[in-house]
Amino acid sequence: MPGPGLDMFGPEERNAVLDVLDSRELSRYRFDDDGSAAPSKTFQFERDLERFSGARHCLGTNSCTSALLIGLWAAGVGPGDEVIVPGYTFVASIAAIAYAGAKPILAEIDESLTIDPEDARRKITRRTKAILVVHMLGASCDMDALVAIAAEHGVLLIEDCAQAGGGMYRNKALGTFGAFGAFSLNVFKTFTAGDGGVLVTNDSQLYERAFAIHDHGAKPHRVGVMDANSFLGLNLRMHEMTGALAGAQLRKLPRILQKLRENKAKLRDLIGSMPGCRERTVHDLDGECATVLAYTFESEARAEKVARELGTAPLSRSGKHNYANIPQLARRALPFGSFEGNFEAGSLPRTDRLLASTVSLSVGVVDSYLGTGFGINIRSGAEQIVRVAELFRATVLDASNGTEV
Ligand SMILES: Cc1ncc(COP(=O)(O)O)c(C=O)c1O
Repeated sequence: MPGPGLDMFGPEERNAVLDVLDSRELSRYRFDDDGSAAPSKTFQFERDLERFSGARHCLGTNSCTSALLIGLWAAGVGPGDEVIVPGYTFVASIAAIAYAGAKPILAEIDESLTIDPEDARRKITRRTKAILVVHMLGASCDMDALVAIAAEHGVLLIEDCAQAGGGMYRNKALGTFGAFGAFSLNVFKTFTAGDGGVLVTNDSQLYERAFAIHDHGAKPHRVGVMDANSFLGLNLRMHEMTGALAGAQLRKLPRILQKLRENKAKLRDLIGSMPGCRERTVHDLDGECATVLAYTFESEARAEKVARELGTAPLSRSGKHNYANIPQLARRALPFGSFEGNFEAGSLPRTDRLLASTVSLSVGVVDSYLGTGFGINIRSGAEQIVRVAELFRATVLDASNGTEV
């Protein structure tokens, strides 16, 4: 199973979907509504997520990529603007900036495998409109530093929380630190509906604009005057089946996160410290989603050897998560023409080095494309956790004892 949310599917998800089918209400809108109908599952999910995250507004969308694009448009990011984004993310965060018409400026990551705040600061110019940070592999960026830098330079802070649904930083929900946050509900995530996304924001004006953009220019929930005094909109709405699944999964999310955190703590205790490698820096161990346990080696060759022995790969070869592996970026290919950016392999030497020397174990997200093909999953029992820890330790020690590779 790819992600912990999908691993925990059961009768709750099934019943939620059957409710939708039985009611024949397949959209968030009821067309013959006389006011007596129950609120849609999508509406209910949004309000539940508001309570869960503490965000003032949540908006269900058809993917996280859509949520990012809607948010960028709603925040007024467009042609002539630069948006700083880490070179280790998923292609969607960079593509959303390019499709908004702005210029993605890649920044380095640091030992936390998330954006290096100082490199983000160095890359701010008078054209910078936003810093789009990405909470990679379930754990937050250094939000204290990033919030301060954004405020100091008067630029927007945007959070891509696709890989960190339910995560926190110092007891505050990820996604609620800046202009808006975007979550994914695809099958690899902490909570899933197969596909789907959510935009969260505390900014009521941004929310109204986002709602309009995602629903043909309509006011939130199409209540009162139908058309917001806003822009032309598109249709990027969440399907009612998605809302039903997402709602059922959200109710399980606290349990999912608790289990992941327990399993990760067991796995890292059993692995302990080892020569020649160190654990990834995690800015908030209690608040992270604990989907992954990553180790950075002193030598790239050793990381390569360990990964090969375990049948996995260093993060440098985790598909379109590494800027240097994305052919469309290299070709600057958009349907309506080219775009600019610092995408040549080698543009981010520190990121290149860190990705090539880091091996990740799955704790809850089992995904070879993410570089987490080896490890445990949310259902792993004590024996399997011990087996994986012992195998990892033996492989690392063997690589350290052998001749220098
Ligand atoms: C960091 C990151 N951002 C954005 C996305 C896009 O999410 P979605 O598939 O919901 O569009 C993903 C998906 O894997 C992701 O990992």
